Amino acid sequence: MGGLHYGHGELIKFAKGQKVSAPSTVLVSIFVNPLQFNPTEDFKNYPRNLEEDCKLAKASGADAIWAPSFNDVFNGGIDSHFQLLAPAQLSKELCGASRPGHFDGVVTVILRLIHLVKPNCLFLGEKDWQQYLIIRQLIKDLQLPVELIGVPTIRDKDGLAYSSRNQYLNSAEKKKALELPKILEKAAFATSLGQGFDTASMKSELRKKGLIVEYLEVVDPFLLKPSRKKEKFTLLAAAILCGETRLIDHRFLMNRKPIVAIDGPAGSGKSTVTKKFAEKLGLLYLDTGAMYRAVTWLIQKNRIDIKDREALIKMLESIDLKLQQTPKGEQKVLINNEDVTSSIRSPKVTQQVSEVAALSDIRNTLTAQQRLIGKDGGIVAEGRDIGSSVFPNAELKVFLTASINERANRRAIDLKRQGFKVPDLSSLKRQIKERDDLDASREISPLVQAKDAEILMTDGMCIEEVVESISRMFRLKVPEELWPTP
Ligand code: DC
Repeated sequence: MGGLHYGHGELIKFAKGQKVSAPSTVLVSIFVNPLQFNPTEDFKNYPRNLEEDCKLAKASGADAIWAPSFNDVFNGGIDSHFQLLAPAQLSKELCGASRPGHFDGVVTVILRLIHLVKPNCLFLGEKDWQQYLIIRQLIKDLQLPVELIGVPTIRDKDGLAYSSRNQYLNSAEKKKALELPKILEKAAFATSLGQGFDTASMKSELRKKGLIVEYLEVVDPFLLKPSRKKEKFTLLAAAILCGETRLIDHRFLMNRKPIVAIDGPAGSGKSTVTKKFAEKLGLLYLDTGAMYRAVTWLIQKNRIDIKDREALIKMLESIDLKLQQTPKGEQKVLINNEDVTSSIRSPKVTQQVSEVAALSDIRNTLTAQQRLIGKDGGIVAEGRDIGSSVFPNAELKVFLTASINERANRRAIDLKRQGFKVPDLSSLKRQIKERDDLDASREISPLVQAKDAEILMTDGMCIEEVVESISRMFRLKVPEELWPTP
């Protein structure tokens, strides 16, 4: 919309730095859209300073600026063009309640801009989260060939979210306006500690400071309806009037960092992509299969009969299983202080691990340890039962799979790389099938696709493509503002 500020500059830098589907050429569009203002709003006075905008865009790395006139966008006038209605469910909530027609104007123009520019990616600030959600649905419903990427809200050092409208504030008003981010931050902090807060007293506190509260609500972050407290995280959103200036702000409320669960059958490529995805997002990587393998290795080393429950329990009581992340993002596996990272990959361990993993005492011990590792979130865990049993509240659950042929081929490459003898393809297929059957038919936490998991069939996809697909899925579930900073 123009009136570019530091926040826009950061958004441009973010777009320029993204290694999304194609190398980025960043076009900044500047168009003060009259269709999204209603007659009582500030369309005429909305900040316009193209010269300054160009300077800031260029300094932030933009390759081009496109500042069309109304006629460039709607040649022949608005009445000779289609106009859209934004979905009522999303657009009547929050800002929509006091700005009838606002989101219709937004989507009408955005659709037109997308058609004229044909971008690969569209970068939008998450500050206008409701607008972001509505445009996301526009893209989905009309199947527009553009990827939407949200950019976290940028704040000044006092915490005020950058907005073109901030320049309307005089210094006394600016001071007053800071009460909004302050109070939202307080609520977000309380939530992170597992404590509650009360929106009624927050509103009255803001009013006492001389602000008019249009709304301040805790809502479902995707439906924008009052929270049913069932969501994994919620959105605390507010709009206020500070003097004549309308400001909006929000915080996503969550009491831990996000969790990603990646499950799937043997040889579906989970370890490689999970490791890469975790590295990309700065999340902890947890290979739970390695834990079952380590226990199997110890059982074999100590020649324990797995039918001897007493001996198993004794072994589990004194077990010291550690997963250490090396600076390269690799996972080192130590059991009773012995580094077993490579030995747990041997065919001998592979052959028995599914049988060992079906034992309830072993599953209970390892599941408890996995939950402890992931209690604060910030983790990508892979295995067979992560989404269905270990972390049923994970924000994203992926069921990664591939055809048996593809998996056998991958296994052969893996074994060769690790210096093990490679069986012929048909024996490999048989072994994989046997493990699938054992894992899927065991009584406790069998290998299943959790009902809310996204299935990803990876035949013919390279590792980067799989990682990119998982990143896209994550983006749809977790706002960029909740992504850990790598
Ligand atoms: O992914 P992998 O091949 O390293 O896993 C080894 C075995 O461990 C697998 O056959 C089944 C078991 N496993 C499990 O039962 N539950 C998990 N969460 C992870 C692995």
